[in-house]
Amino acid sequence: MTIVTRANTQENLNAVIRGHSELLASQLHSQRESLFPPDASKTMRKFTSGEAAALLGVNDSYLRKLHLDGKGPSPEVTSGNRRQYSADDIQCLRVLLEKTARKPGDYLPGRRSGDHLQIIGVMNFKGGSGKTTSAAHLAQRLALKGYRVLAIDLDPQASLTALHGVQPEFDLPNGGTLYDAIRYDAPVPITEVIRPTYIPNLDLIPGNLELMEFEHETPRALSRGSAGLFFFRVKEALAKVDDRYDVVVIDCPPQLGFLTMSALSAATGVLVTIHPEMLDVMSMSQFLRMTADLMDVIADSGADMSHDWMRYLLTRYEPTDSPQNRIVAFLRTMYSDKVLNAPMLKSTAISDAGLTKQTLYEVERSAFTRSTYDRAIESLNAVNDEISQLIQKTWGR
Ligand SMILES: Nc1ncnc2c1ncn2[C@@H]1O[C@H](COP(=O)(O)OP(=O)(O)OP(=O)(O)O)[C@@H](O)[C@H]1O
Ligand SMILES: [Mg+2]
Repeated sequence: MTIVTRANTQENLNAVIRGHSELLASQLHSQRESLFPPDASKTMRKFTSGEAAALLGVNDSYLRKLHLDGKGPSPEVTSGNRRQYSADDIQCLRVLLEKTARKPGDYLPGRRSGDHLQIIGVMNFKGGSGKTTSAAHLAQRLALKGYRVLAIDLDPQASLTALHGVQPEFDLPNGGTLYDAIRYDAPVPITEVIRPTYIPNLDLIPGNLELMEFEHETPRALSRGSAGLFFFRVKEALAKVDDRYDVVVIDCPPQLGFLTMSALSAATGVLVTIHPEMLDVMSMSQFLRMTADLMDVIADSGADMSHDWMRYLLTRYEPTDSPQNRIVAFLRTMYSDKVLNAPMLKSTAISDAGLTKQTLYEVERSAFTRSTYDRAIESLNAVNDEISQLIQKTWGR
């Protein structure tokens, strides 16, 4: 009798969970449809002439002169006689300005002959430590600064994918994640899962729950003896598109599974996001030990596990919070220059942008009070530009 009751309860629970899942998916779908109609794909906003000039690293007056001289793309001129540039216009200007640049790379900072592809893994197994937010803003900023960027969502939760206007549960019914390119049976060429985004220079490999298959299939392939050097599958797939990009940014899942292990093996740079609070820092000690153990296992197979750089990035940092400040001071003392100078400040501008599936780079300044927007964007730019400097340094510049 008891058993029957329990079975019934269990069945009911399954039904409830399944029902809730379907309800949530359809609600989210209709919410998105109302925000972004199905035939309207996401587009990038226009940039003010001041923003365009800052992105290009020139004076606004110089951009104005180019426009008046009829050089380069024509910006849209608003009724208030303001010039607005699209992200494509900015890219065209880069190409134009680079032709007469004082030194090569002033406007197109990407690889030159002999420079190797930078693959940046954003990781920490602590959930909510700011991996996706950091990865998305980094990928977009680098693309807007003229690097050729590939963003990869390696997290089955697919938040990076959703941020880029792809609905993981609706838009990828027949695969289309990196799993297709790294699976053990019948992998497809990686080019088949790369898609352009609404930002010039930025491509995306989306993710969804199918990525979990790699976690399930790898132990099976290992026991069959058919896994080979499984942790190099991401690296090998990326080697096929090496010449198409300057930088690859990988958003890792919040766990140290086979996917993260593969990202770690492919990475040339590792960014560990840390929210400076006691519980997060305590779990980080385990994360670091487990990561080191994993790297030992990989290195034991003869693989080269050297990286160009690794840095800790402080996320959602509140400078007015004294406990956080103590933790930041403690981390900086322990890890000195391995902690990026620029922290990513906590800001409602960043979390509000996230609510509408946008990064702050996609939101216009007028959407927030100026001081809130400026403070957040300056913090994001400082973080991403410090990472850009690490990339340049790796290339010997
Ligand atoms: N600088 C910030 N200011 C305010 N909110 C932030 C900031 N960075 C991240 N958040 C918010 O914190 C939450 C967690 O961030 P995020 O999704 O980037 O973490 P994550 O490490 O990728 O999480 P997961 O481990 O689940 O993948 C999100 O709601 C995000 O909008
Ligand atoms: Mg995430």
